[in-house]
Amino acid sequence: MDAKKIRHISIIMDGNGRWANDRNLPRAFGHKEGIKSIKKIVEACTVRQISTLTLFAFSSENWNRPNYEIKLLMNLFEDSITTNSEELHSNNVKVKFIGNLSKFDKQLIDKISELELLTKDNTGLLLNFAINYGGKWDIINAFNKYISSIDASEKDMKIDINDIEKYLSLKDNYPDLLIRTGGEHRLSNFMLWQHAYTELYFTDCLWPDFDVSELDEAIKWFQERDRKFGAIKNIKTSSKNNA
Ligand code: IPE
Ligand code: IPE
Ligand code: MG
Repeated sequence: MDAKKIRHISIIMDGNGRWANDRNLPRAFGHKEGIKSIKKIVEACTVRQISTLTLFAFSSENWNRPNYEIKLLMNLFEDSITTNSEELHSNNVKVKFIGNLSKFDKQLIDKISELELLTKDNTGLLLNFAINYGGKWDIINAFNKYISSIDASEKDMKIDINDIEKYLSLKDNYPDLLIRTGGEHRLSNFMLWQHAYTELYFTDCLWPDFDVSELDEAIKWFQERDRKFGAIKNIKTSSKNNA
């Protein structure tokens, strides 16, 4: 495996509200502008032959926002799916949604299912949108799915790492590089399991300002990392050390 090759990029798209505040605009403008950044970055990832892009669009904690902002975001998701489905499909992008989708309106769930169905056989970029997603939810959900799959009367039951991994919303495909825009240095409950060995890149750039050159900057930073996965590289052996 080539440790420098990026297969999977994940992004915490943060800073929409502040982008709008800086311009004395309502936060809605920042969210709308953020959709333009998504389009640019999806296209750039396709061109750069990244295999997976996972975007954090709405966290399980974002329900704590005022109702009008939640409603606005839901409408934006729905409109963006309607507007961009055909283009994503014609660019061979396979779209998936991860998270607890059951909390959304039927209308949005239907749109999501239509887009997933339309693009399911595409072989280009795999584009995951995390909505109503929480890393803790993902792990608990996997445990519950595992428990439902077994005979709970087994006395000496022991859980293996694979038992849980196979029920996570993303499996066998974990991010190499996580980008968080907006200046905060935290995961905000985003893919706690899947980011265990991801390289973490933080930038002050607000999401609506994030463009292809910012993406390339992050990729360049990634190329300079030395990924060791707990091992030791370039061990210099001497007869003394080997004693
Ligand atoms: C990220 O931008 C978008 C969502 C969480 C939906 P924010 O809305 O968090 O923007 P800031 O952090 O308030 O600037
Ligand atoms: C993280 O951003 C969630 C998304 C980008 C969807 P938040 O703005 O919600 O995170 P906190 O509240 O600053 O941790
Ligand atoms: Mg924020």
